[in-house]
Amino acid sequence: MATKPRMHLALDFSWTQVETDWRQPTSWVNRFYPDIGLFEDVARICERGLFDLIFFGDSTGIPNTWEGRIDAAVRRGVAWPRMDMSPWITAMSRVTSHVGFGLTYASTFMHPYYTARLLNALDHVTNGRIAFNVITSQRKADFQNYGYDELVEHGERYDRMEEFVDVCKKLWASVDPDAFVWDPVSGIVADPAKVRPINHVGRFFKVKGPLSVPPSPQGRPVLVQAGGSPRGVRASARFVDHVFGAGKGLALMAEQRVKLDEALRAEGRDPQQVGILWATKVIVAETEAEALRLKERLIADVPMEAVGAWLSHNTGFDMSTLPPRFSLRALNQRIVAANASPVGFVGLLAEQYGEDMEISRDEFFRHGLHAATGYASTKAGTPVQIADYLEEMFEATGSRGGFMLGHSQAGHRAVLQNITTMLVPALQRRGRMRTAYEGRTLRENLAAS
Ligand SMILES: Cc1cc2nc3c(=O)[nH]c(=O)nc-3n(C[C@H](O)[C@H](O)[C@H](O)COP(=O)(O)O)c2cc1C
Repeated sequence: MATKPRMHLALDFSWTQVETDWRQPTSWVNRFYPDIGLFEDVARICERGLFDLIFFGDSTGIPNTWEGRIDAAVRRGVAWPRMDMSPWITAMSRVTSHVGFGLTYASTFMHPYYTARLLNALDHVTNGRIAFNVITSQRKADFQNYGYDELVEHGERYDRMEEFVDVCKKLWASVDPDAFVWDPVSGIVADPAKVRPINHVGRFFKVKGPLSVPPSPQGRPVLVQAGGSPRGVRASARFVDHVFGAGKGLALMAEQRVKLDEALRAEGRDPQQVGILWATKVIVAETEAEALRLKERLIADVPMEAVGAWLSHNTGFDMSTLPPRFSLRALNQRIVAANASPVGFVGLLAEQYGEDMEISRDEFFRHGLHAATGYASTKAGTPVQIADYLEEMFEATGSRGGFMLGHSQAGHRAVLQNITTMLVPALQRRGRMRTAYEGRTLRENLAAS
């Protein structure tokens, strides 16, 4: 009997995903954060569950679009506090040996030489377990810390991303794996013929190279990108090893898979080799009633100004200025004109309900509450129900890649453990998940099918 393709699982451990339920008594967030021991604990749990990687998303500025101020975000803990996770990954890697780590930096703000060197070092420290989620950033608060007042135009951000990654790749290849000889007899450290400048001169960057480091176990980190617009998908097709996709319903996900495959073929690449890890929100418990009870916690006690600050931050539009009634088309046009993403929350709402729908402010915020907390997209159920749900999506989207499980699992120990002790065995019994890590590096594990 032919074996079925197996799913890859990742944990979305970006703290902001859990900010809305930090008030719950079992949340880790308000008690221990920041605590290195907690991060180590999460790494151990994920490794026991044979996860491919733990992912850290990022946004670097404190949201300030709602009412034009940071006050609501600061008061309610929206997308802050956030630290640079690279040193924390070092700690997590010391208590594990297989699970990988995905780190996010914006090509719009960073310099490729610095980034290539940092990720090389992390790949050494983790012994080949680093993935780089390359983002453009679509948030004004991030731009304002890096010399801009407004967002850089959407297409130009992706032009820069493509050149940024080209430069990084050239730098990672600028020192051959066998360049270092460390020969005490001849006194030779490395062979200059195997260490080459890259002499890159482009529209955005001028970098001589080579990179001043020994090649890392993976050579370069696993490259990931999550752009969902046509331009974002095109950039993915150029350079990614894997894609992060937004879990947005079967039809749209299947459509994104088809578009990515077309774009990959246009780049002369084999679509079978590139998986999509779909951001997916699940809550697993022994009974469906218990899972649903846990799901209800997501929207309990969430203040509307937190929702407003979150939505405004992510769309670049101050939602506090919304009139009592408006059409989704008009709102999305203003968001796109401000250069945020055309496929964000309002775009998806318009897709779901029709662009011409008129909506009241209260209805809009109710949808916003459900989106911001993940409530709308969370599937709660028994291990069998959730395994069914994941299998259906996996098959509908080409059975390549898998899922990045997000939000409250990360913030509550028992809920995260339910994934690894209930859901993972259910998937294994169906032959849908590994029973041991196949490879030595993250790239090898992600490539296993
Ligand atoms: C799973 C997933 C993870 C993402 N992580 C981040 C992140 O950490 N930081 C960020 O600014 N954007 C993040 N994004 C947003 C994307 O990079 C991208 O901007 C978004 O999907 C809109 O697509 P577009 O840029 O092609 O319009 C993420 C998106 C998805 C689907």
